[in-house]
Amino acid sequence: MGIIEWATSPLGQSVPIHIAWFLIWVALIAGMLFLVVHAIYIRYFAKEKEFVADASPKVAAQLPARIPRHSLAARLFHWIMAASMFVLLFTAFLPKVGVRFDWVTYHWIAGTVLTISIIFHIIHASFYLDFWSIWPDRADVEDAWKRFQRFRGESSALPRKFAKYPLENKLYHGAIIVTGMSVILTGVFMMSRVRTIFFPRNPYLFSDMTWGLMYVLHGLAGVGLITLVVVHVYFAIRPEKLPITASMIVGTMSREFYLKEHDPNRWVVEASPNVPRSMADGD
Ligand code: HEM
Repeated sequence: MGIIEWATSPLGQSVPIHIAWFLIWVALIAGMLFLVVHAIYIRYFAKEKEFVADASPKVAAQLPARIPRHSLAARLFHWIMAASMFVLLFTAFLPKVGVRFDWVTYHWIAGTVLTISIIFHIIHASFYLDFWSIWPDRADVEDAWKRFQRFRGESSALPRKFAKYPLENKLYHGAIIVTGMSVILTGVFMMSRVRTIFFPRNPYLFSDMTWGLMYVLHGLAGVGLITLVVVHVYFAIRPEKLPITASMIVGTMSREFYLKEHDPNRWVVEASPNVPRSMADGD
């Protein structure tokens, strides 16, 4: 039972045609297993997070009551991308597990929405947002090592609080880039195999072998996204993460939550215009 299904091409060559669909269940079970293990760990074994002291009362006093976290454009992007991702997952995999419907048209339309939203996101993040905020830096690695040592019961200095995004979120974003770009790049070519409004149908663009490998990559990245989406939704609805999820709707989070988890030196927030200068200066 391999992870790839093979067929014989008209030229008698053995070619891959797509992934074996049992991988859908493997991906779903992997996601579920992760959340069960994580939930048990947090409930029974995890200790309260500890960080080295950072924000002085002076800095805290300058902060606005609500900390801006996601602009309207970033939030709209997130929810359009999420909607298209769910449509893609359901239209791709429901037919494979026995729910029959005419899925291809819905699928390529959602694929087009995802592709356009990602192009927008790349431009927006590169020129209008803090591009480097989502990439791991040296402090993340140093602090992850300290957290790991403390997890193992070894003595280590306390880690700093996080910048805008903890290392875990940055690594998750990296995994989404790899899987997301794989489904998008292969999906755009695969559109030439079906009837769309963009270009005439041309199934002979590549050899059978190249097409087969493309379908396999599309499928592997696709099932990977099942696991990633399950994990993402799980974290979004965990009680301690709800302020972060809410900020993806309203755009802001409370000053208390920000100060609990984030280091104002690593995620710099503009001082509130309502705070009198004398108070902000600690006078
Ligand atoms: C969450 C993201 C995605 C998942 C899980 C996914 C999954 C799948 C799966 C499992 C198939 C069936 C392939 C096969 O039968 O071997 C498929 C087909 C297809 N996908 Fe996607 N896909 C995703 C994103 C995209 C994107 C972004 C596009 C376009 C830009 C796209 C375009 C297509 C097309 C045109 C087909 C039909 C190919 C055919 O029937 O010959 N997909 N997709």
